[in-house]
Amino acid sequence: MITISGIQVAPSILNADFANLRSEVEKVASADWLHLDIMDGHFVPNLSFGPAVAKALKAHSRLPFEAHLMVDNPEFHIETFRAAGTSRVIVHVESTVHLHRLVQMIKASGQEAGVALNPATPLNTIDLVLPELKVVLLMTVNPGFGGQTLIPGVLAKIRELRQKIVADGLDCRIAVDGGINRETATEVVAAGADFLVAGTYIFKNRDDPAQVIADLKQLGNAKMSTE
Ligand code: DX5
Ligand code: ZN
Repeated sequence: MITISGIQVAPSILNADFANLRSEVEKVASADWLHLDIMDGHFVPNLSFGPAVAKALKAHSRLPFEAHLMVDNPEFHIETFRAAGTSRVIVHVESTVHLHRLVQMIKASGQEAGVALNPATPLNTIDLVLPELKVVLLMTVNPGFGGQTLIPGVLAKIRELRQKIVADGLDCRIAVDGGINRETATEVVAAGADFLVAGTYIFKNRDDPAQVIADLKQLGNAKMSTE
């Protein structure tokens, strides 16, 4: 049996209305985390925003903030984001040749450490640091843009990681990021994910963001009642 303590939801503001970010963030107050996609135009072919935006929004939200760093030289930005108010930094395994050192830096800054893997990156790249992580973020699209379609091949990776976390008795969530909607959320939760990052589905939905978030979290209850 898979032990999951509920589904957590983190709205990504990448596809929110940038002209009204404060009210967009206020609409998702019932989420568990706020997900900040930080892009540098090098590691991924897109630019987003930086710590100044995180700091400005933090004054209008009680949610913990997480910075998903899609940048080269992620070590330059760990302290900057902590000072801007983030509680967790997620770095890409592909962005560093010193993953262990980077994870120690994040923890030493007083933040939770997470590691993200691109769709084609194998799980064994994080074996050494896995016991130190609060979250592993499995990219379900190639990073860089919101509004893409989930790559189904990642489902097997979610299952494999869930088995490993259970076997080793680790306290680590499995986050998925990219192309999450009602249908794909059902699939990734069935595979073992317990942390859903969603941008387009929450901010470009006809329904109220609070309702969309509640519906996504409900998937966890459905899963647990079938076990
Ligand atoms: C992609 C980002 C995601 C993205 C998710 O590089 O890491 O967080 O904004 O957006 P949707 O939910 O629109 O796929
Ligand atoms: Zn992200």
